[in-house]
Amino acid sequence: MTAKEVMEISPIVPVIAIDDEKDALPLAKALQKGGVNIMEVTLRTKAGLKAIELISKELPSMNVGAGTVCNEEELIQSKNAGAKFVFSPGISKELIDASKKHDITLIPGVATASEVMLAQNNEIFYCKLFPAKISGGVDILKAFQGPFSKMNFCPTGGVNLNNLNDFLILKNVLCVGGTWFVPKDAILNNEFEKITLLCKEALDSLV
Ligand code: 3PG
Repeated sequence: MTAKEVMEISPIVPVIAIDDEKDALPLAKALQKGGVNIMEVTLRTKAGLKAIELISKELPSMNVGAGTVCNEEELIQSKNAGAKFVFSPGISKELIDASKKHDITLIPGVATASEVMLAQNNEIFYCKLFPAKISGGVDILKAFQGPFSKMNFCPTGGVNLNNLNDFLILKNVLCVGGTWFVPKDAILNNEFEKITLLCKEALDSLV
């Protein structure tokens, strides 16, 4: 799966921190029911890799990838768990080379012109903007359109129901990432119907 294909699956990409792998499948099904067929399961909890493994085996129609992948070891672990792609909050030559070596799609995070140049110079044209809001939000994305006309972004960090359209109307934005429609307490309390409704609310709000 190419980075372009990943970023075209859904205009909203859930960034998930899962504490108990038993919640992985109900959560994946709730997202699909809400119209969202992609998950970024972060490695910031111990259950992350196991959750990816479960979803990729039991629900292959879900496009599951890993998030918060910061080094080669985490990239290998993600691939072995069945991740179809990996997201990183940042970018490094080490991670780019590892993604090529292990043949897995990497969508790195960038927040400055120099980082966009590092991506571009390595033939990467699909990136997160992270942390989107505090690194300049809509303004920095507009500013990047001039010098980096081939670059496409998935702004993540500070995106919510009130501002997602401000990002998605930009020509260099394909999708946005966020946690607002997968709240941790809803996962912990097994309120999966609420997550389905939050997905629908976000998708219905798109202009
Ligand atoms: C994160 O760091 O967890 C993601 O970027 C999502 O950020 P958000 O909670 O602001 O959506």
